[in-house]
Amino acid sequence: MVIEVPRIQLSNGQTMPVVGLGTYARKAEPGQYRQAVESAIEIGYRHIDTASSYNNEVEVGEGIANAIKRGLVTREDLFVTTKLWNDNHAEAAVVPALRASLARLGLEYVDLYFVHWPVSVDASGQDTGIDFRETWRGMEEAARLGLARGLGVSNYNEEQLQLLLDAAAAPPVVNQVEVNPTLTQHKLVAWCRQRGVVCAAYTPLGLLSDARPEFQDKDALKTDAALGRVAEQHGKTRAQVVLRYLVQRSIPVIPKSFTPSRLAENLDIFSFELTPAEMDVVDSYNIDHRCVPATGFAKLKNYPF
Ligand SMILES: NC(=O)c1ccc[n+]([C@@H]2O[C@H](COP(=O)([O-])OP(=O)(O)OC[C@H]3O[C@@H](n4cnc5c(N)ncnc54)[C@H](OP(=O)(O)O)[C@@H]3O)[C@@H](O)[C@H]2O)c1
Repeated sequence: MVIEVPRIQLSNGQTMPVVGLGTYARKAEPGQYRQAVESAIEIGYRHIDTASSYNNEVEVGEGIANAIKRGLVTREDLFVTTKLWNDNHAEAAVVPALRASLARLGLEYVDLYFVHWPVSVDASGQDTGIDFRETWRGMEEAARLGLARGLGVSNYNEEQLQLLLDAAAAPPVVNQVEVNPTLTQHKLVAWCRQRGVVCAAYTPLGLLSDARPEFQDKDALKTDAALGRVAEQHGKTRAQVVLRYLVQRSIPVIPKSFTPSRLAENLDIFSFELTPAEMDVVDSYNIDHRCVPATGFAKLKNYPF
């Protein structure tokens, strides 16, 4: 069964499917990204999120190409995003970096091109402190050339986004940030919304994922009775409740999975609705805990957290 995923309106006229496939993995077997992308498209995913730093654009592109070759979709049916890494923030470096991503993906354009982080470094990881408004001029050039249909940022805080919005000719339409039950981000999401910027949720499963072993209370979401009762009430899993909670807040989600049953599970969130009280249950887990604090960047100028 192919699930039809609703789309959210972006301020530049584009629409983006509210569930996408995340593709970051610390470890992957050869072919795993390609297979996940192809299987995801087969069951209804139309939004694929990658980044140059994930080192998987070739396989992601192969998955897309296979799906198109099999007649499952056309390129126009898909919403593909990738991201500019921190070592290409000089204005003149942006377009070549995107061209390199497109060559790896085997695509002529991406639907959204993100600046991955507001921080900038050189090839050896040293801080270059480039003003992200300079980077944005390169992003706008990429859009003018038709290489990106839309532009976004990721991991920007309010102050950084305001500086960018004040300077941009073509403002970012999405801020991709971590949002999940232990980091509900109500303030940032509302602030962005007031300015026409959609917050999209990365790491949407948060501590439900086994890929997050390092936090002391990591099992709370997996075991707490209140979330279990909500899941049971709807005949869904805890993960589905969490993804539904985000989508009901008009926050697009990009859960990653290599597991076919989970790919299907994460897409099957449109046949039920959480009540306000059930939304409050998910909200109650907020402790402002980041799964992705990126502490390796903490000493860099423009570290956002
Ligand atoms: N912009 C940024 O700075 C940034 C940062 C982080 C992530 N991202 C993007 O956001 C995407 C999602 O974030 P993420 O990968 O960190 O975290 P996530 O999607 O919340 O969690 C992924 C993990 O959860 C497991 N999982 C998937 N579905 C599940 C389910 N239904 N039940 C239980 N476990 C499930 C996956 O395992 P299996 O694969 O084994 O099924 C995987 O280990 C990334 O892949 C990437 O595209 C962006």
